[in-house]
Amino acid sequence: MTEPRRAEVLQPTPENLARAAELLRSGGLVAMPTETVYGLAGAANQPEALAAIFAAKERPTFDPLIVHVSWPIEKDGTDTSPLDRLEAMDLIRVSQLQIQARDMGNRLLRAFWPGPLTLVLPKSPDVPDLATSGLGTVALRMPRHPVARALIEAAGVPLAAPSANRFGRISPTRAEHVLSELGDRIPLILDGGPCEVGVESTVLLLQPDGVVRLLRPGGAPAEKIEAVLGHKLEGPVTARSHPGETAPQAAPGMLESHYAPRKKLILLPAVLENLSGDEVRALASQIPPGTPVGLLAFQGKAEAAKARLEALFGTPVAAVRVLSAEGHPDEAARKLFASLRDLDHSSAQLLLAEPCVIDAEGLGHAIQDRLRRAAAPR
Ligand code: TXA
Ligand code: MG
Repeated sequence: MTEPRRAEVLQPTPENLARAAELLRSGGLVAMPTETVYGLAGAANQPEALAAIFAAKERPTFDPLIVHVSWPIEKDGTDTSPLDRLEAMDLIRVSQLQIQARDMGNRLLRAFWPGPLTLVLPKSPDVPDLATSGLGTVALRMPRHPVARALIEAAGVPLAAPSANRFGRISPTRAEHVLSELGDRIPLILDGGPCEVGVESTVLLLQPDGVVRLLRPGGAPAEKIEAVLGHKLEGPVTARSHPGETAPQAAPGMLESHYAPRKKLILLPAVLENLSGDEVRALASQIPPGTPVGLLAFQGKAEAAKARLEALFGTPVAAVRVLSAEGHPDEAARKLFASLRDLDHSSAQLLLAEPCVIDAEGLGHAIQDRLRRAAAPR
């Protein structure tokens, strides 16, 4: 039985943006493109809209949302303090940050906004608890996708927007992905084309004492952030939580199993050509004979990868997707989620993924993080 699909997929014309903005102001939901992944947006100041987001995604309310903002940016470095702007919008409490933290926060936001950086800051009491899972902090991001910017500004209110997929599943990087994830439960999807970055924003926590912690690797490479800070980033404070956990966490939403295809996915310990004999034997025991497998190759040619896989495991290869023929992590990031989705929809019954080469630019960390979670036990 096919599910009813009632979402309209619309081009972001001025008329359609105005319509989407009106829908948001009246408490409705709109899927919008951002440069990272598509987001499911609702008015951040309306608890009913926030509740509708959690319901549409089937997302547990202990996983807080990112609030998206936009204002015209002066790119000559003379922009007024972004933290003061956020305070004036009744989103954050700057007074809870010590001087050095304010300096760090403003430097980060001037360097990375608009773009794939989310900063977690002390929240204003005006931000609904549902947006922040009752935490004392709120996650904020200014996307750089022109359609997201135009929509936020037309709505006239910050937009809470998680990735527009069902909870725990593969994030959408094209309007059609949103249609297949949520088309039966939301009214409107704005089509802004394929996402340019392809993995979610980097999430940083700015502590009142000025310490900056990396909560989620993402589109803004850690190395570039460290260059702006002038020192290394700290890791999250708590250990990763378990899928069944319901209490708010210090580093929430860092669930081990996430970005998961429906089919079982095994993350290989090395790229195919570097697997040791022991590794091949251990893997072979996990692949029932004759099972059609799907391969997510990091680089090279699909034909060569297919031949190698068949030779190693003697199993039929149903589908291969190569993330970047030349092995560029930024290209691989852009193709990651769509490739996983293709393999999930192929006739393969089991998926294998090569690990991503960790590069100096840093998107390799985000890709490897997503693959690890896609392969995590559920
Ligand atoms: O690129 C992105 O960030 C996309 C696009 C749509 O902007 N959004 C996105 O949202 O990835 P979502 O809901 O899939 O991820 C939000 C994550 C949470 O799971 C949590 O890890 C972190 O952001 N987060 C949100 N609020 C937080 C808070 N107050 N403290 C710590 N982490 C928080
Ligand atoms: Mg998500």
